[in-house]
Amino acid sequence: MNAPISLGIVGCGYWGPNLIRNFSALPNCKVKAMCDLNEGRLKHLLGLYPDVAGLTDFTRFLRIPGLDAVVIATPVKHHFPLAKASLLAGKHTFIEKPMASSSAECEELCEIADRNGLVLMIGHTFLYSAPVRKITQLIRTGDIGQIRYINSRRLNLGLFQQDINVAWDLAPHDISIILNILGEFPVSVNCSGNAHVTPGIEDVTNMSLSFSQQRFATIQSSWLEPRKVREMTIVGTRRMIVYDDLQTHEKIRVYDVRVEGPPHYDTFAEFHYSYHYGDSYIPYLKQEEPLKTECEHFLDCIESGTEPASGGQAGLEMVRILEAASTSLKANGAPVKFSRDKTTDSPSGRIPPIVVLSNPSAAA
Ligand SMILES: NC(=O)c1ccc[n+]([C@@H]2O[C@H](COP(=O)([O-])OP(=O)(O)OC[C@H]3O[C@@H](n4cnc5c(N)ncnc54)[C@H](O)[C@@H]3O)[C@@H](O)[C@H]2O)c1
Repeated sequence: MNAPISLGIVGCGYWGPNLIRNFSALPNCKVKAMCDLNEGRLKHLLGLYPDVAGLTDFTRFLRIPGLDAVVIATPVKHHFPLAKASLLAGKHTFIEKPMASSSAECEELCEIADRNGLVLMIGHTFLYSAPVRKITQLIRTGDIGQIRYINSRRLNLGLFQQDINVAWDLAPHDISIILNILGEFPVSVNCSGNAHVTPGIEDVTNMSLSFSQQRFATIQSSWLEPRKVREMTIVGTRRMIVYDDLQTHEKIRVYDVRVEGPPHYDTFAEFHYSYHYGDSYIPYLKQEEPLKTECEHFLDCIESGTEPASGGQAGLEMVRILEAASTSLKANGAPVKFSRDKTTDSPSGRIPPIVVLSNPSAAA
């Protein structure tokens, strides 16, 4: 058996401790160090993990002997300098979503990782969740028919961020799921919204992604809602799916419903819609924390030298969409079109990979 991968985590605020907990529980991993500018957070985590080193200085953290990989869970504005230093120090690097503050920064990180043969993975956590894997499977087998549209709502009160708006904070989850389901990059994006609480930082946004064949997806994101909502509806030509991530056991329901116009008609009197109402069912899903599967995948990629399902290119695509959304916000919701990606034959850009995990137990 290989020696465990030695790993350090930067950022011990809200999300970092979840990464520390999951990586610490994996047999092929040794969490060696934690780094945070905030001494109080470090002290708290050192109480939980007394065998792990705690540092406030990232430069000293990077110099810890034998560190193979670095995980970054800081606010987004710190992702680029920390990840760049980590990659230049020869560490495999995991960055929480969104990858960085601009596509130029993402491109630079991809280039450094490629040049040095290092794994660069982005925390698009939902791609590793059982419901999203099941939905993708149902769609790929043709069960749902052609996708007509997707509607996603991710709403709650807070948590207000200071360096990014709500679209950059919450919509990456929806975008990663939608790109995975549709298997293509959008043709254009438009986004409108408002900053009600912090000037210049939108706390409510409505984004639309337009895809080929007149398919589209809408994403509503809010930090200003009384109730927490995590709901996605996928409307196909044969069936429809409602995915409610707040349900404990019944996260996905498949509805055998559809509506069709008549194939031929000569007069308006002959025009009748055909409504089909069939059964609905709840597919079985294995209960597993998506973050655990995601952490396992990062370690697998390091061990096997393979490209992660949510690698640097996926992170770059996400940030391109978020940048376009910000441009559209400034232009009062005007659509922003993507230019043809020269590296691919696809008119609207690189097709994201289907998430295939090497650990079959992760599949529901
Ligand atoms: N994948 C998910 O489902 C998910 C969920 C929540 C948050 N996130 C992501 O995790 C990241 C962190 O979010 P959060 O909510 O935990 O933020 P947070 O503000 O709660 O915590 C960030 C921590 O990073 C520390 N920090 C900041 N700059 C640093 C630096 N230069 N060196 C060392 N430490 C530094 C801060 O002191 C703080 O303790 C963000 O990218 C966010 O989008 C992902």
